[in-house]
Amino acid sequence: MLTTWLEIDLGAIQHNYHLLQAISQRPVMAVIKANAYGHGISGVVPALTRVGATWCGVARIEEALEVRRFSREIQVLVLGYTHPFWVEKALAQDICLTVFDSQTAEAYAKRAQAIGCELRVHAKVDTGMGRLGVLPDAAVDFIRWLMTLPGLKVEGLYTHFARADESNPAPTLEQIRRFDGILETLTIMNLRPRWVHASNSAAIFNFPQARYDLVRAGIALYGLHPSPETPLPPSFRPAMALKARLVSIKTLPPGSGVGYGHRYVTQDHERIGVVAAGYADGIRRILGNEVLIHGKKAPVLGTPCMDQIMVQLDDVIEAMPGDEVVIFGGQGGNFISVEEVARRWGTINYEVVTNMMARLPRIYVESKDEEVG
Ligand SMILES: Cc1ncc(COP(=O)(O)O)c(C=O)c1O
Repeated sequence: MLTTWLEIDLGAIQHNYHLLQAISQRPVMAVIKANAYGHGISGVVPALTRVGATWCGVARIEEALEVRRFSREIQVLVLGYTHPFWVEKALAQDICLTVFDSQTAEAYAKRAQAIGCELRVHAKVDTGMGRLGVLPDAAVDFIRWLMTLPGLKVEGLYTHFARADESNPAPTLEQIRRFDGILETLTIMNLRPRWVHASNSAAIFNFPQARYDLVRAGIALYGLHPSPETPLPPSFRPAMALKARLVSIKTLPPGSGVGYGHRYVTQDHERIGVVAAGYADGIRRILGNEVLIHGKKAPVLGTPCMDQIMVQLDDVIEAMPGDEVVIFGGQGGNFISVEEVARRWGTINYEVVTNMMARLPRIYVESKDEEVG
């Protein structure tokens, strides 16, 4: 019997994966960096391979190696930087690396050549993110040069959008224009790599012309909205819920302080519950949190403690110690969305789910499409 846990609906992730395939009409690279956006690589990778996923993207080589513990077949691209030290390991585990500067590319090529292998790489172009990637002016020469390096197999070319989730399309259209210019030249030179990709979740919906050979979906895969301006269609289903047990109930007299700093003081005789989840689980230490108990919203009193929060139970008379409490997710026909929590915490849904702590067990369930209608 768990006290505090994340419930991850793998059926929802599989369902969302199918929707993204149907919408984009492309292979979908499942972006599973940061422990699958907090959902857990150990559950998400097998669930995706069961529905035939062929690609996944991670931020770091350590994450790619973690993926390999659960699937030998899925193609893995490291989207971030990898030190040349890892080349032999990447080769042994058939992991693709990203290249975006000549020095590192040369170091990769040397190490791969030394053991008589070809390292699979995707070149990254910075068309307007201001992050990783060669600048557009240098891109064609860089790719042509990369292709001459023995030891490297340039399989892919990609870029990343900075503002595809916004209502103003202009910045993304400019990024697409720059990327298309590079592609056109490479195509004429017969140097276009096999896998060209650019779209994140938001771009899949907003910029169909930028789907190229595959799309890279993170947030939508988990059933979360790319942004308020780019909400998902209602057919998508969120996969993560944060749950904990109600562990104690008592009635405090008027004027009682609750929690550190007594940031809440009872007005009357009040029924106060203690829930076993706190900021060391990932709950933000702010005033104004809410939870669901017996499907009813109950306010969190004062600021969260490290492992516990206190809740007001005057309107939930049926509450008993041992009951399940939902910090986000659904209960009894009511729902607290990750987006609602993000608004309360002054952040975005991406940060809420990726900040769920490692100590939370991930409990995998698999809802079927027909169960949720
Ligand atoms: C390079 C790259 N591609 C794709 C994604 C997926 O983005 P999203 O979660 O918005 O779909 C990310 C995540 O930030 C990324 O860094």
